[in-house]
Amino acid sequence: MCGGAGFIGSHFVRQRTREHGDEVAVLDKLTYAGREENLRDLAGAPGYRFIHGAIEDPDAVAAAIDGCDAVVNFAAETHVDRSISGPEVFLTTQMNGTWTLLEAARERELRYVQVSTDEVYGSIEEGSFTESSPLDPSSPYSATKAGADLLVSSYAHTYDLETVICRGSNNYGPFQYPEKLIPLMVLNALHGDALPVYGDGMQVRNWLYVEDFAGGIGHALAYGAPGEAYNVGGPDECPNIDVVRRIIALTGRDESLIEYVTDRPGHDRRYSLGWEKIRALGWTAQVRFEAGLERTAAWYRDNAWWWEPIRSGEYRAYYERHYGRALG
Ligand code: NAD
Ligand code: TYD
Repeated sequence: MCGGAGFIGSHFVRQRTREHGDEVAVLDKLTYAGREENLRDLAGAPGYRFIHGAIEDPDAVAAAIDGCDAVVNFAAETHVDRSISGPEVFLTTQMNGTWTLLEAARERELRYVQVSTDEVYGSIEEGSFTESSPLDPSSPYSATKAGADLLVSSYAHTYDLETVICRGSNNYGPFQYPEKLIPLMVLNALHGDALPVYGDGMQVRNWLYVEDFAGGIGHALAYGAPGEAYNVGGPDECPNIDVVRRIIALTGRDESLIEYVTDRPGHDRRYSLGWEKIRALGWTAQVRFEAGLERTAAWYRDNAWWWEPIRSGEYRAYYERHYGRALG
């Protein structure tokens, strides 16, 4: 499982080892977003192995893949704003990294699951994208994710590699790095910091609780048809400003913390996935947004051990650079 020390990957690793009894090797570069703390409860557990290395490094991949039956690739640079200010590493990881993994899987004839995103389809004003909608990404993040998807499909088509692509909508839940909307707003609200809303705050995202996405990926790993892509959509959509208002209510703050800031360049207005195809395989999301958001806010409130080192480390400098103000 590549990128298993990140947000979604760590939930997936936990689910596979605890609920399915899988033996798991995690290969992770431990970028700013990857943290061994995310998997600290698994350290030393039988059947769990951690390898520190990059997916674009063939030697690290060879060391990790030995003895595996399948590859699940979560590893990516994942933040749209960082892709706008520094796209290069997005190309290295998404393109060279995915290609290196595909070669290793092809050599060993392994099943390969690529974790992807609704952002590869671009923005949609009304209705929802299906798996046959054209890819029309907008940011360096989504363009490199789309490029990786196309490369994965080419390996199925050309080399008969058993590939499956899972395209998830916006995830939220415990262990998400606070550069992303929901953990950023929860932690800022808890600290009494300003809540920076881009543009008019009316951009819409389709929210999926992280354990549901992990379950959907596991489902596609087990039952997905080779060469196919599956949209894994969330049950609820919500404009950003409503997300922020709900977080204000959950943290006992008031709207004076909201600060409208300069919009993200090329900001996608709305994402929406139709997920009939994975529903037909037997998967549906279990957690509605209201319950999941309450659970998420409570987790951040109760787990300062996890976010304190982040808020006092690289993130603090990133925040100051990006928002032009210091964290409180
Ligand atoms: P994350 O940023 O929290 O974690 C990414 C992980 O990948 C980290 O552990 C990092 O160290 C590792 N990594 C990065 N570059 C690497 C490299 N070159 N080699 C090895 N490891 C590397 O990301 P996330 O939110 O958990 O996303 C995981 C996957 O799911 C990504 O592919 C992302 O595109 C996709 N996705 C995310 C969302 C979302 O809302 N977060 C939604 C849909 C799909
Ligand atoms: P984000 O969590 O970065 O996910 P993505 O851009 O991949 O959907 O952002 C979610 C939405 O929240 C997006 O419309 C941008 C917006 N946003 C803000 O308004 N303020 C912020 O500080 C951040 C990080 C995001």
